[in-house]
Parts: sequence; structure tokens; C-alpha cells
Amino acid sequence: MPHPPLRLGVNVDHVATLRNARGGRNPDPVRAALLAIEAGADGITAHLREDRRHIRDDDMARLKAEIPKPLNFEMAATEDMLRIALATKPHAVCLVPERREELTTEGGLDVVGQHNALAPFIARLNDVGIRVSLFISAEPRQIEMAAKLRAPVIEIHTGAWCDAVVDGHAAKADAEWQRIVAGAALARSAGLEIHAGHGLDYETAERIAGLGEIVELNIGYYMIGEALFVGLAETVRTMRAAMDRGRRNAVSPNQAGQNQAAQNPAGKA
Ligand code: PXP
Repeated sequence: MPHPPLRLGVNVDHVATLRNARGGRNPDPVRAALLAIEAGADGITAHLREDRRHIRDDDMARLKAEIPKPLNFEMAATEDMLRIALATKPHAVCLVPERREELTTEGGLDVVGQHNALAPFIARLNDVGIRVSLFISAEPRQIEMAAKLRAPVIEIHTGAWCDAVVDGHAAKADAEWQRIVAGAALARSAGLEIHAGHGLDYETAERIAGLGEIVELNIGYYMIGEALFVGLAETVRTMRAAMDRGRRNAVSPNQAGQNQAAQNPAGKA
């Protein structure tokens, strides 16, 4: 059976990071979003953090109004954010953990520990037809709880795997990869739609595109960095090509675990 196509969501947060460094209007994350879509992105992701360190309220409103593709609104599960999301009506909301002092979203959401608090958020977003995803690490307990909470989608946090690959920690990279492979299989059997993101670059995106159960990757930081050198459109096209190459060789999660162990015992991507 052919695997479903793999969508690319481009995260434009760090265009806003650069803009905010001078406090003016440029570079504009909405312009970046339109350009990314023109070059082949299937959707746009933006994270409205509580401290507004990059994306701001009016960026989110303009993204919703101006982009012709789905908007994935990342946010912490707070009443304030829920109010903004319900008013913005994005295609999707991705609930993420947030700590003010962190540099980025460092770990997955603890849906097991917070299920009582998360349940009403998920229900209210489900009720108005906004697709909810939970950004979690590929741990069986978290995945099972996400399904119990009736979130239709999980996004697997790939940060630990990507860091290990980039740092050349082969054993850790292999362990993290196996965790992702097993998590994707479990999530699929629980009926969840599976996305993945955080720290992906061309190499890791191509590798993870080989997991046929994953249908969307959300990628930001690396692409915005690459765009400084070759432009955003070229970066999107190169990422798209890497994902398509990976997808052509897609296998089921079970096969992926076996292939990884057989072909590349060191786990280097
Ligand atoms: N997905 C989620 C849920 C995220 O929080 C982030 C980071 O904002 C990303 C994907 C993109 O990660 P990166 O910027 O490292 O590509």
C-alpha cells in the first residue's frame, strides 16, 4: 500500500526573532510564509509564546488572514492562549510545553501528568473543529494518554534524536531513533495521526520521511538559518526534495527499526 504524502509545515518564528532584534517591521514573517508556500510548503507553523519573544498577536492574525494554506498555531495550554486561538480560528493548534527561561521548546508535553488540565482544552478545540495536536516525546505512556484524551494528532518531539545525530553520539542517536520508530507504530495502532518536528535538518528530515506513518514535518530553525545563505525558496525546495527522497524509500515503523539496526548499527544519520 503506498504511504500517504508527507506535508511540510514551515515554522516562521525565527523570521520574527530577527525582526524583533531591531524592533521594526522587517523581516516580515508573513512575507516569509507566503514565499515558503509559493516554493512548496504545505502549511505554516507559528508559536505564539507567552513572552511574545518572536511571533506576536498581530503576526498570528495576519498569517491567518493572508496565507492560502493551513495555519498551525503552536501554544501553551493557558486560558489566555485558548481565547486567542478560538478568536483566530487556525486550521490546527499544537499544544506545547512552555517555560519562560528555555531557549526553545526543550521537551515534550507531559500529557500523563497534566491530563486533567489538558482535557478541557482539547475538548473545546475539538468542539469548534480546530485540529488539536499534542507535542510529546515518543514515550508509550504519553502516546496512550494522547489517544485517551481524544487528541486526533500527536507531534513527536525529534529534538533529542536530532541533537544526538548532529553531535555524533551514535549510541544515543540509535536509541532515540528506535524510540521514534516504536512510538510511531504505537501511535498509528492507537489511531492517531502522526507529525514530527524539532531540530530537523535536510539529513534528519530525509531519514524520518522514511517512516511512512508520519504525515507531516514541522521545521523552522534550520531552514531559516539556511535561507540566509541560499534564500528561503531554495531552502524550501531543497527540504522538499530531501523529504521526497526519504518518502520514496518509506517503510513501516517495524521495518524501519530492523533496517536501522541491520544497516547502521552505530545509528549515525
Ligand atoms: N514543532 C513544534 C511543536 C515546535 O515547538 C517547534 C519549535 O518551535 C518546531 C516544530 C520546529 O522546530 P525547529 O525550529 O527546531 O525546526
